[in-house]
Amino acid sequence: MNKIVSKELYSEKVFKLVVEAPLIARSRKAGNFVIVRIGEKGERIPLTIAEADVEKGTITLVVQAVGLSSTKLIKMKEGEYLTDVVGPLGKPTEIENYGTVLCAGGGVGVAPMLPIVQALKAAGNKVIAVLAGRNKDLIIMEDEMRAAADEVIIMTDDGSYGKKGLVTQGMEEVINREKVDKCFAIGPAIMMKFCCILTKKYGIPTDVSLNTIMVDGTGMCGACRISIGGKTKFVCVDGPEFDGHEVDFDEMLKRLGGFKPQEMEAYEAHAS
Ligand code: FES
Repeated sequence: MNKIVSKELYSEKVFKLVVEAPLIARSRKAGNFVIVRIGEKGERIPLTIAEADVEKGTITLVVQAVGLSSTKLIKMKEGEYLTDVVGPLGKPTEIENYGTVLCAGGGVGVAPMLPIVQALKAAGNKVIAVLAGRNKDLIIMEDEMRAAADEVIIMTDDGSYGKKGLVTQGMEEVINREKVDKCFAIGPAIMMKFCCILTKKYGIPTDVSLNTIMVDGTGMCGACRISIGGKTKFVCVDGPEFDGHEVDFDEMLKRLGGFKPQEMEAYEAHAS
Protein backbone atom coordinates (compact mmCIF):
# COMPACT_ATOMS: atom_id res chain seq x y z
CA MET A 1 0.00 0.00 0.00
CA ASN A 2 1.37 3.41 -0.98
CA LYS A 3 0.04 6.61 0.57
CA ILE A 4 -0.85 9.64 -1.53
CA VAL A 5 1.05 12.39 0.28
CA SER A 6 -0.20 15.29 -1.81
CA LYS A 7 -2.32 16.00 -4.81
CA GLU A 8 -2.18 19.11 -6.95
CA LEU A 9 -4.37 20.14 -9.82
CA TYR A 10 -2.70 21.19 -13.08
CA SER A 11 -5.84 21.41 -15.15
CA GLU A 12 -9.31 19.89 -15.15
CA LYS A 13 -8.00 16.45 -16.11
CA VAL A 14 -4.34 16.54 -15.16
CA PHE A 15 -3.08 16.01 -11.61
CA LYS A 16 0.26 15.74 -9.86
CA LEU A 17 0.36 13.03 -7.21
CA VAL A 18 3.19 12.70 -4.71
CA VAL A 19 3.22 9.11 -3.48
CA GLU A 20 5.16 7.35 -0.72
CA ALA A 21 7.52 4.85 -2.35
CA PRO A 22 10.93 5.09 -0.60
CA LEU A 23 12.67 2.20 -2.38
CA ILE A 24 11.59 3.42 -5.82
CA ALA A 25 12.62 7.00 -4.94
CA ARG A 26 16.10 5.75 -4.10
CA SER A 27 16.66 3.58 -7.16
CA ARG A 28 14.79 5.31 -9.99
CA LYS A 29 16.64 6.80 -12.94
CA ALA A 30 15.45 9.09 -15.76
CA GLY A 31 13.24 7.09 -18.10
CA ASN A 32 11.99 4.58 -15.51
CA PHE A 33 8.29 4.10 -14.93
CA VAL A 34 6.00 2.45 -12.37
CA ILE A 35 2.78 0.46 -12.62
CA VAL A 36 0.04 1.56 -10.24
CA ARG A 37 -3.04 -0.38 -9.18
CA ILE A 38 -6.19 0.68 -7.37
CA GLY A 39 -7.94 -2.37 -5.93
CA GLU A 40 -6.85 -6.01 -6.15
CA LYS A 41 -8.55 -6.41 -9.50
CA GLY A 42 -7.73 -2.94 -10.76
CA GLU A 43 -6.24 -2.22 -14.17
CA ARG A 44 -2.49 -1.77 -14.13
CA ILE A 45 -1.67 1.84 -15.02
CA PRO A 46 1.85 2.59 -16.29
CA LEU A 47 3.08 6.04 -15.25
CA THR A 48 6.48 7.61 -15.70
CA ILE A 49 8.24 8.99 -12.64
CA ALA A 50 8.50 12.77 -12.99
CA GLU A 51 10.50 13.46 -9.82
CA ALA A 52 11.70 11.68 -6.70
CA ASP A 53 12.63 12.90 -3.23
CA VAL A 54 15.00 10.41 -1.66
CA GLU A 55 14.88 12.04 1.81
CA LYS A 56 11.10 12.12 1.99
CA GLY A 57 10.85 8.74 0.25
CA THR A 58 8.37 9.98 -2.33
CA ILE A 59 7.92 9.91 -6.09
CA THR A 60 5.94 12.33 -8.22
CA LEU A 61 3.51 11.04 -10.83
CA VAL A 62 1.55 13.10 -13.32
CA VAL A 63 -1.80 11.58 -14.24
CA GLN A 64 -4.18 12.53 -17.01
CA ALA A 65 -7.73 11.20 -16.87
CA VAL A 66 -8.23 9.38 -20.14
CA GLY A 67 -10.19 6.26 -19.17
CA LEU A 68 -11.88 4.62 -16.21
CA SER A 69 -8.77 3.68 -14.20
CA SER A 70 -6.98 7.01 -14.57
CA THR A 71 -10.24 8.80 -13.69
CA LYS A 72 -10.50 6.67 -10.52
CA LEU A 73 -6.87 7.51 -9.75
CA ILE A 74 -7.30 11.26 -9.99
CA LYS A 75 -10.41 11.08 -7.80
CA MET A 76 -8.35 9.69 -4.93
CA LYS A 77 -7.59 12.07 -2.09
CA GLU A 78 -4.51 12.98 -0.06
CA GLY A 79 -3.98 10.42 2.69
CA GLU A 80 -5.63 7.58 0.75
CA TYR A 81 -3.63 4.53 -0.32
CA LEU A 82 -2.89 3.02 -3.72
CA THR A 83 -3.09 -0.78 -3.64
CA ASP A 84 0.42 -1.06 -5.01
CA VAL A 85 3.14 0.73 -6.96
CA VAL A 86 5.59 -1.54 -8.78
CA GLY A 87 8.90 -0.26 -10.07
CA PRO A 88 11.19 1.21 -11.13
CA LEU A 89 10.48 -0.57 -14.44
CA GLY A 90 11.99 -0.20 -17.91
CA LYS A 91 15.44 0.76 -19.04
CA PRO A 92 16.81 4.13 -17.96
CA THR A 93 17.42 6.85 -20.56
CA GLU A 94 20.78 6.73 -22.32
CA ILE A 95 22.37 9.94 -21.12
CA GLU A 96 25.56 11.20 -22.73
CA ASN A 97 27.20 14.50 -23.46
CA TYR A 98 25.67 14.93 -26.93
CA GLY A 99 26.24 18.69 -27.21
CA THR A 100 23.02 20.59 -27.89
CA VAL A 101 19.86 18.61 -27.14
CA LEU A 102 16.32 19.56 -28.11
CA CYS A 103 13.66 18.07 -25.83
CA ALA A 104 10.06 18.22 -27.05
CA GLY A 105 7.31 17.47 -24.53
CA GLY A 106 3.64 17.41 -25.43
CA GLY A 107 0.88 17.56 -22.78
CA VAL A 108 1.64 15.18 -19.88
CA GLY A 109 4.72 14.04 -21.83
CA VAL A 110 6.45 17.00 -20.16
CA ALA A 111 6.46 15.07 -16.85
CA PRO A 112 8.67 12.16 -18.01
CA MET A 113 10.79 14.68 -19.94
CA LEU A 114 11.74 16.59 -16.76
CA PRO A 115 14.16 13.98 -15.27
CA ILE A 116 15.68 13.51 -18.74
CA VAL A 117 16.34 17.26 -19.05
CA GLN A 118 17.85 17.30 -15.56
CA ALA A 119 20.10 14.32 -16.35
CA LEU A 120 21.16 15.80 -19.72
CA LYS A 121 22.11 19.06 -18.02
CA ALA A 122 24.08 17.20 -15.36
CA ALA A 123 25.98 15.43 -18.17
CA GLY A 124 27.06 18.80 -19.60
CA ASN A 125 24.61 19.26 -22.49
CA LYS A 126 23.00 22.50 -23.58
CA VAL A 127 19.30 21.66 -23.30
CA ILE A 128 16.50 23.49 -25.12
CA ALA A 129 13.00 22.35 -24.16
CA VAL A 130 9.90 22.86 -26.26
CA LEU A 131 6.72 22.43 -24.21
CA ALA A 132 3.51 22.10 -26.17
CA GLY A 133 -0.18 21.78 -25.50
CA ARG A 134 -3.51 22.55 -27.09
CA ASN A 135 -3.94 25.59 -24.83
CA LYS A 136 -2.41 27.40 -21.80
CA ASP A 137 -4.10 25.09 -19.27
CA LEU A 138 -2.40 22.07 -20.79
CA ILE A 139 1.14 23.41 -20.37
CA ILE A 140 2.47 21.77 -17.21
CA MET A 141 5.68 21.89 -15.11
CA GLU A 142 6.91 25.07 -16.78
CA ASP A 143 8.71 26.36 -13.65
CA GLU A 144 10.47 23.02 -13.10
CA MET A 145 11.55 22.97 -16.75
CA ARG A 146 12.81 26.56 -16.61
CA ALA A 147 14.91 25.62 -13.58
CA ALA A 148 16.37 22.59 -15.40
CA ALA A 149 16.86 23.64 -19.06
CA ASP A 150 18.94 26.38 -20.70
CA GLU A 151 15.95 27.62 -22.68
CA VAL A 152 12.23 26.85 -22.68
CA ILE A 153 9.97 27.52 -25.64
CA ILE A 154 6.21 27.24 -25.18
CA MET A 155 3.92 26.38 -28.09
CA THR A 156 0.12 26.27 -27.92
CA ASP A 157 -2.23 25.23 -30.73
CA ASP A 158 -4.57 28.15 -30.04
CA GLY A 159 -1.90 30.75 -29.20
CA SER A 160 -3.33 31.26 -25.67
CA TYR A 161 0.22 31.07 -24.24
CA GLY A 162 3.73 31.22 -25.69
CA LYS A 163 3.86 31.02 -29.46
CA LYS A 164 0.94 29.84 -31.58
CA GLY A 165 1.72 26.64 -33.42
CA LEU A 166 2.57 22.97 -33.12
CA VAL A 167 5.50 21.50 -31.25
CA THR A 168 7.22 20.72 -34.55
CA GLN A 169 7.16 24.40 -35.52
CA GLY A 170 8.95 25.31 -32.29
CA MET A 171 11.47 22.53 -32.90
CA GLU A 172 12.13 23.56 -36.49
CA GLU A 173 12.80 27.15 -35.44
CA VAL A 174 15.55 25.93 -33.12
CA ILE A 175 16.96 23.51 -35.72
CA ASN A 176 17.15 26.36 -38.26
CA ARG A 177 18.79 28.63 -35.70
CA GLU A 178 21.52 26.38 -34.34
CA LYS A 179 23.13 22.97 -34.64
CA VAL A 180 21.14 20.37 -32.73
CA ASP A 181 22.96 17.11 -31.97
CA LYS A 182 20.18 15.05 -30.42
CA CYS A 183 16.42 15.18 -29.82
CA PHE A 184 14.09 13.60 -27.32
CA ALA A 185 10.33 13.66 -27.91
CA ILE A 186 7.68 12.54 -25.44
CA GLY A 187 3.95 13.01 -25.78
CA PRO A 188 0.99 11.55 -27.62
CA ALA A 189 1.98 8.96 -30.26
CA ILE A 190 0.83 11.19 -33.10
CA MET A 191 2.99 14.05 -31.82
CA MET A 192 6.07 11.82 -31.52
CA LYS A 193 5.46 10.52 -35.03
CA PHE A 194 5.57 14.04 -36.49
CA CYS A 195 8.56 15.06 -34.35
CA CYS A 196 10.42 12.05 -35.77
CA ILE A 197 9.44 12.87 -39.37
CA LEU A 198 10.90 16.34 -38.79
CA THR A 199 14.15 15.24 -37.16
CA LYS A 200 14.65 12.51 -39.76
CA LYS A 201 14.51 15.22 -42.42
CA TYR A 202 17.37 17.01 -40.65
CA GLY A 203 19.25 13.80 -39.77
CA ILE A 204 19.08 14.37 -36.01
CA PRO A 205 19.04 11.19 -33.88
CA THR A 206 15.83 11.14 -31.82
CA ASP A 207 14.71 9.07 -28.85
CA VAL A 208 11.05 8.72 -27.94
CA SER A 209 9.36 7.28 -24.84
CA LEU A 210 6.43 5.08 -25.80
CA ASN A 211 3.20 4.93 -23.84
CA THR A 212 1.64 1.70 -25.04
CA ILE A 213 -1.00 -0.35 -23.26
CA MET A 214 0.65 -2.48 -20.56
CA VAL A 215 -0.53 -5.35 -18.39
CA ASP A 216 2.23 -7.13 -16.45
CA GLY A 217 5.10 -4.75 -17.18
CA THR A 218 7.60 -7.59 -17.07
CA GLY A 219 7.75 -8.87 -20.65
CA MET A 220 5.33 -11.79 -20.14
CA CYS A 221 1.98 -10.75 -21.63
CA GLY A 222 2.91 -9.10 -24.91
CA ALA A 223 0.35 -6.29 -24.51
CA CYS A 224 2.99 -3.63 -25.05
CA ARG A 225 4.57 -5.13 -28.16
CA ILE A 226 5.66 -2.78 -30.89
CA SER A 227 7.67 -2.94 -34.12
CA ILE A 228 11.04 -1.25 -33.97
CA GLY A 229 13.02 -1.41 -37.20
CA GLY A 230 10.82 -4.33 -38.28
CA LYS A 231 11.52 -6.34 -35.10
CA THR A 232 9.03 -6.98 -32.32
CA LYS A 233 10.02 -5.37 -29.03
CA PHE A 234 8.31 -5.08 -25.65
CA VAL A 235 8.03 -1.51 -24.44
CA CYS A 236 8.03 -2.54 -20.76
CA VAL A 237 11.36 -4.36 -20.79
CA ASP A 238 13.11 -3.27 -24.00
CA GLY A 239 12.00 0.37 -23.59
CA PRO A 240 10.15 2.57 -22.91
CA GLU A 241 12.66 4.60 -24.92
CA PHE A 242 13.53 3.74 -28.50
CA ASP A 243 15.12 5.24 -31.60
CA GLY A 244 12.15 7.25 -32.86
CA HIS A 245 13.18 6.85 -36.49
CA GLU A 246 12.74 3.07 -36.17
CA VAL A 247 9.30 3.06 -34.47
CA ASP A 248 6.27 1.95 -36.47
CA PHE A 249 3.99 4.71 -35.16
CA ASP A 250 1.09 3.74 -37.43
CA GLU A 251 0.99 0.27 -35.90
CA MET A 252 1.26 1.78 -32.42
CA LEU A 253 -1.63 4.19 -33.08
CA LYS A 254 -3.76 1.32 -34.33
CA ARG A 255 -3.01 -0.81 -31.27
CA LEU A 256 -3.64 2.11 -28.89
CA GLY A 257 -7.08 2.56 -30.42
CA GLY A 258 -7.85 -1.18 -30.31
CA PHE A 259 -9.56 -1.16 -26.91
CA LYS A 260 -11.40 2.17 -27.21
CA PRO A 261 -14.92 0.61 -27.41
CA GLN A 262 -14.29 -1.51 -24.28
CA GLU A 263 -12.78 1.48 -22.47
CA MET A 264 -15.84 3.62 -23.30
CA GLU A 265 -18.17 0.83 -22.16
CA ALA A 266 -16.36 0.42 -18.82
CA TYR A 267 -16.30 4.19 -18.29
CA GLU A 268 -20.00 4.61 -19.04
CA ALA A 269 -20.96 1.62 -16.84
CA HIS A 270 -18.98 3.18 -13.98
CA ALA A 271 -20.45 6.65 -14.49
CA SER A 272 -24.08 5.49 -14.68
FE1 FES B 1 3.25 -7.29 -20.76
FE2 FES B 1 5.04 -5.57 -21.66
S1 FES B 1 3.30 -5.15 -20.48
S2 FES B 1 4.93 -7.69 -22.04
